[in-house]
Amino acid sequence: MHSTPALPPHATIAIVGAGRLGGVLARALRAAGFIVIGPLRRDDTVPDADIALLCVPDSAIAAVAFAARPHSRLVAHVSGATPLIDVDFSLHPLQTFTGTESSDVFRGIGVAVDGRTPEGLEVAERLARALGANPFRVDDAHRAEYHAAASFASNFVLTVLDAAEHLAKDAGVDRAHLAPLVRQTVDNWTASGAASALTGPIVRGDEETVARQRAASADYRELFDALAAATRAIVERAPHGSATPEEPRA
Ligand SMILES: NC(=O)c1ccc[n+]([C@@H]2O[C@H](COP(=O)([O-])OP(=O)(O)OC[C@H]3O[C@@H](n4cnc5c(N)ncnc54)[C@H](OP(=O)(O)O)[C@@H]3O)[C@@H](O)[C@H]2O)c1
Repeated sequence: MHSTPALPPHATIAIVGAGRLGGVLARALRAAGFIVIGPLRRDDTVPDADIALLCVPDSAIAAVAFAARPHSRLVAHVSGATPLIDVDFSLHPLQTFTGTESSDVFRGIGVAVDGRTPEGLEVAERLARALGANPFRVDDAHRAEYHAAASFASNFVLTVLDAAEHLAKDAGVDRAHLAPLVRQTVDNWTASGAASALTGPIVRGDEETVARQRAASADYRELFDALAAATRAIVERAPHGSATPEEPRA
């Protein structure tokens, strides 16, 4: 006797939640060949489907999973922070979505997956691969750390860039001029990590310059002090107290 394959070729997937991620995920799964129902809005009836993929706020997952359960073989969420208590698997794309992205937005990105059963995990991995993404496993014990990392890498970067934008504007400099600096910094960090990528007055030890910057950042004093302290910690943990790569010794 054959058992049901973990993810049948023409699996039906109901996308519940028509927000930033729900819409783009529905487009992408459809383009990958699945039969997609939705994205479904709050008042839509939950249809019968192989998989109900919940793209709702984290706080709504438990209630929506309960409603979807009688209609679905597997219930899953796309939240990075929420444990698997109410679902069979999770699939968290490590990317930021505003809802306007095209269906190929998942190609090449990382997707955190986990399953309550081997079947759940396998389906999560297959869905990620069908989207062209690279699945990696994050279990419930590591979710909070993982999701905090994602917030530092995206949300808090925007918080810092917003401060940079306002200070630049006060100096008559447009945000567009900061963008190449941001991109190069991210490229350098990607290649070798923060300690090697760090430049500027803190790592150079130009304390008078740091003091002048601090005085000019009056509207962002607490943020400046917290970031300067964290930056000094990067310098201190670098080999020999230097954040620049070690020169080969003669
Ligand atoms: N956006 C991202 O960058 C991103 C990235 C990775 C993962 N995620 C995950 O994706 C999930 C959704 O996030 P999002 O950014 O797409 O949020 P969002 O834009 O706020 O969309 C959530 C959607 O869920 C709907 N909703 C709320 N309660 C519902 C219910 N009971 N039944 C059906 N629909 C309901 C909301 O409808 P109303 O407008 O009527 O309230 C809204 O359309 C979260 O788990 C999040 O962690 C998001």
